[in-house]
This record gives sequence, structure tokens and C-alpha cells, in this order.
Amino acid sequence: MSATSIFILGIVGAAVLAAAGIFTVAVRRGSSAGPVTGTFDRRAVRKDRQRVAAAATGGGVATIAEPETDTAVEADAAPPEEIDDSVGVTPLVQKRQISAAEYGVTRRQFFNRAIIGLFGGVFLGSLGLGILAFLWPKLKGGFGSKIVAGSVADLRNQIINSDGTLSPLFFPAAQSWLVPIDDASIPGSSFEGLSVAAGGGAGEPSLMALWQRCVHLGCRVPSCESSQGFECPCHGSKYNFHGEYQDGPAPRNMDRFVLEIDDATGDLVIDTGQVIQTPRSKVITIPYPQGPTCL
Ligand code: FES
Repeated sequence: MSATSIFILGIVGAAVLAAAGIFTVAVRRGSSAGPVTGTFDRRAVRKDRQRVAAAATGGGVATIAEPETDTAVEADAAPPEEIDDSVGVTPLVQKRQISAAEYGVTRRQFFNRAIIGLFGGVFLGSLGLGILAFLWPKLKGGFGSKIVAGSVADLRNQIINSDGTLSPLFFPAAQSWLVPIDDASIPGSSFEGLSVAAGGGAGEPSLMALWQRCVHLGCRVPSCESSQGFECPCHGSKYNFHGEYQDGPAPRNMDRFVLEIDDATGDLVIDTGQVIQTPRSKVITIPYPQGPTCL
């Protein structure tokens, strides 16, 4: 999925959230649907009072002059008076006090909630986009995907010492130990037929990428150059430099990743999305220990 696709998805998500917020507010309003009742404003009260007065004095149709300005209304407005039924005139409008529950959601409340829903949706959408943007580099090129380790020849030179001993190269991005393996030792081993070695040929060994995680309980396994192996400090599992089980509670060889060579550059590519598990080797491809152990 491209970055543009994720961005568009984020926008759509934000729009959906905003629509959901508005819909929720509308539903809340709808749930209290019914006759809208409430108290009258001052202008209405004043008109009502004028009608009552006109009816009491002349009985004709009262003509009510509109106030010139709202200020005038404010100045002229007086607290609503209780209608005196003793004059024998039927009030034109009966007032009734109602509760907040009866009144339901006012227009102002509706718009307030709609705005809150809208901005809440936009906020959540933006948050989602931020999280995607944070994760995107990892999804694109981090652990769990294919990682370019570099030139096979350069890597090999960093691993194989001039005296023939090995110094496994730790490659943090892939959480892997890179080790060499002679192609001739693979047939009949636990690695035969698996895409766990690459870059060999012309008398040069291939490379393998061993996951640093101990297959017992997941501790990070360091290398031990004196013994030419990997030795786990947690419970003492030991593996040779090909990651083959040698001792301890580990149930199998060290796990390893699928490898491939980039056709265009010749670089070693570690596919950390594909982990290969192998059982304890019946045929050991490299001796261990070759010196004092570290544990
Ligand atoms: S985690 Fe390595 S031996 Fe237990």
C-alpha cells in the first residue's frame, strides 16, 4: 500500500468519524422528538400582555406596534405577569412551566454537539494519520520486511578473519548475526533445500542470517569467539557458529531468515518477514567448541 493510499484512507476515516459525530448528535436530538415546548421570550410576553389589555378594554382586535429596536424591547420588557382571570377574559395564551427533560435539545445545544462531534472526528482522524505516519517507515523498511545488508564481499570480509576464525557480524536492523557457511556443507544438513544461505560461489562461502533471539525463551544470544559459537546467558543454551543446537534447554537450532541477492546491485537482502525454523541438527556442519566457552 502506498503512502498516498494511506493518506487517502486517513482522510476518508476522518470524514467518516465526523459524519458519525454529527449523526450521533442528530439521533440524540431525534430520540427526544415530540412537541417542542418552552417559555416565551420577552417580546412574546409583551405582545401577549398587550392583547389581554386590548381585549379587556375594547374587545376589538388589538394592533400591536413592533418595537423599533431590540434595545427598546429590552428596556421596555418587564417580568411576565400572571394573568388575572378575575376580569373574565380568557387568556389568549396559557403559559406552562416545563422541565428541562421535556424541553429536549435546543438548537444551540444541537449545534454545540454537532461542532464537538465534527472536531472530535477530525481530531481522531488526524490522530490515526499520525499513528500511520509513525509506523509507516517501520512497515516499509524496518524489522519484519526485507532489509538490504550490503555487499556480500564486504560483509564476508568483516566476518572471516585472516587466521580463518570467524567474528560473526551483528546486523541490528535485522536483529541478526551474519555468519558464513560453505555451500558444500549444506547438502544433508538441516539447511538443505531452504533459502537460508546466499551469496556463495567461486570458492567463496555463502552467508546466513541467524536471528539473535534464543529459541528457548527469547533472550538475546551473544557470540563467543573463543569457543566459536553462540552461548545464551539466560539458561545456558549453546549453538555453534551456524546456529546449530549444541547444549542446553533450547528445543531446536537458532532460527534464521530467508536470504536473497538483489539482482541489480548484488547486495545481500535479509527478509526478516520470513523466519525459518529447523530442528536440532543430526549432521553438524561446523565444530563446537573450538576453544574455551564463555559460560
Ligand atoms: S533463553 Fe536462552 S537458554 Fe533460555
